[in-house]
Amino acid sequence: MVAAVIGGTGDLGRAVALRLALGGVPVRLGSRDAARAAAAAKEIAALAPLGDVQGVGNGEAAGAADVCFLCVPDTAQVATLRVLAEPLAGKILVDATVCLAPGDVTQIAPPQEGSAAERAAALLPRTRVIAALQTVAARRLLRGEDLNHVDALVVGDDAEAKAVATGLIERMGVRALDAGPLRNAQTLERLTALILGLNQHYKRRHIAIQFTGV
Ligand SMILES: NC(=O)c1ccc[n+]([C@@H]2O[C@H](COP(=O)([O-])OP(=O)(O)OC[C@H]3O[C@@H](n4cnc5c(N)ncnc54)[C@H](OP(=O)(O)O)[C@@H]3O)[C@@H](O)[C@H]2O)c1
Repeated sequence: MVAAVIGGTGDLGRAVALRLALGGVPVRLGSRDAARAAAAAKEIAALAPLGDVQGVGNGEAAGAADVCFLCVPDTAQVATLRVLAEPLAGKILVDATVCLAPGDVTQIAPPQEGSAAERAAALLPRTRVIAALQTVAARRLLRGEDLNHVDALVVGDDAEAKAVATGLIERMGVRALDAGPLRNAQTLERLTALILGLNQHYKRRHIAIQFTGV
């Protein structure tokens, strides 16, 4: 199974691409600029020498992959997905987008659909949309970080797609928990804002959540 990372040159995209590569998943790292993608892929390949990471344009990445991770700012989500609607048709999209309030990352500014992932699902009726990784800080995924105390919450309305996304996240070394239907992405985005508030309060940069008793 090949995974694409749309927005793979960014903080989260690089981290996801690295962890997928370390987990043995072939990665097509996407960017609006193929040269920028190639440079990022080269950096990741140096950290994961046994991995298969290729940097390409976002469209080529989506077209080549079975599952696409979306890692772009919320302000770029709609435009990015409109451009990628065809290559994403029939595929699984794992959307990490969080609609944070402009000027205050401890609050969210949800779209009228309720969450970024529900907005993606409305835009892409031929794509199975899953929301995940909202609560996982990119820094936490850097090589050498301890992932033993990091949970990723995975939500979606398609059980098979959710199982595939869960499997890929587990390959990244992160425990993935099924947190219910796609509308629960609203809760995930709120949790992100809460975690960012905790980071501010405790002067940290990668506070994570872990559930017990599962
Ligand atoms: N960073 C985290 O720790 C973290 C954790 C959980 C969830 N998230 C969510 O994940 C998403 C990505 O976060 P990030 O921090 O990785 O973002 P970022 O570094 O600011 O941007 C990611 C990439 O998106 C692309 N991009 C930027 N502006 C764009 C535009 N106007 N149109 C199309 N593409 C654009 C850029 O790639 P190119 O210029 O190469 O195309 C950029 O490298 C956000 O929705 C964020 O809320 C982030």
